[in-house]
Amino acid sequence: MAQKLPIVLIHGFPLDGAIWLAQAEALRAVGYNVLTPSLPGFGTTPPWAHDQGTIEDYAQEIYRLIAQAGGQAIVGGFSMGGYVVMALLREHPAAVRGAMLFNTRPEADTPEVRAARQKMIQQVQQEGTAAICAAMADKLLSPKSSPALRQQVRNLMAVQSPAGVIAALQAMAHRQDSTPLLPTLTIPVLLVVGDHDTITPPAVALNMHNHMPHAMLVQVANAGHLTMMEQPAAVTQAITTFLATL
Ligand code: MLT
Repeated sequence: MAQKLPIVLIHGFPLDGAIWLAQAEALRAVGYNVLTPSLPGFGTTPPWAHDQGTIEDYAQEIYRLIAQAGGQAIVGGFSMGGYVVMALLREHPAAVRGAMLFNTRPEADTPEVRAARQKMIQQVQQEGTAAICAAMADKLLSPKSSPALRQQVRNLMAVQSPAGVIAALQAMAHRQDSTPLLPTLTIPVLLVVGDHDTITPPAVALNMHNHMPHAMLVQVANAGHLTMMEQPAAVTQAITTFLATL
């Protein structure tokens, strides 16, 4: 690549841009401009004034960021961030030179998942973000992850604003099915999944790969859902290998 395009990495739920710290440092050290925005209501980004945002609205925020950074980027998203990448690919395909989909799925929510999100919204409304942290942190990591990492993930979740968390739950519950998008993609795509991911298991990534056989598929060993924090070096390696193909 003559000139390195910026890399935009989008976090999952209910987290923020800090999840990409290891990858951002490693890629910056070799000259990339790496942007790790926090979506509205996460990290230090103010929540939307309204509470009816959509995944497409998040994608619009990312599109604005890419426009400011020169108009085209390599864009990665983890889980909910992956939903945002797929929306961006639908709405603004020319802005994306390469896509990286980490531990995510193309399908919309089932009625059961939507109902569970509604329960979570009520819990957060009544008790705040802390109410959902312990159970969620355990689901995000593989059984072998260290107590220190588990605590770090809980702490990261606990500081997210209830407004941001609720808006994200609503946006995810109403997202559209991105499955039809996958076979239409002609840009390079990286798919990453953890071998112990129970939220978006390897079978989901394999199914996505079936829809786009040209994609590079990497299964990370000894990792649950939150691969980039649980196995940072392996995920950095997957990204670096992918970038070398562009
Ligand atoms: C995430 O990690 O972003 C969430 O598990 C996505 C979801 O709840 O669908």
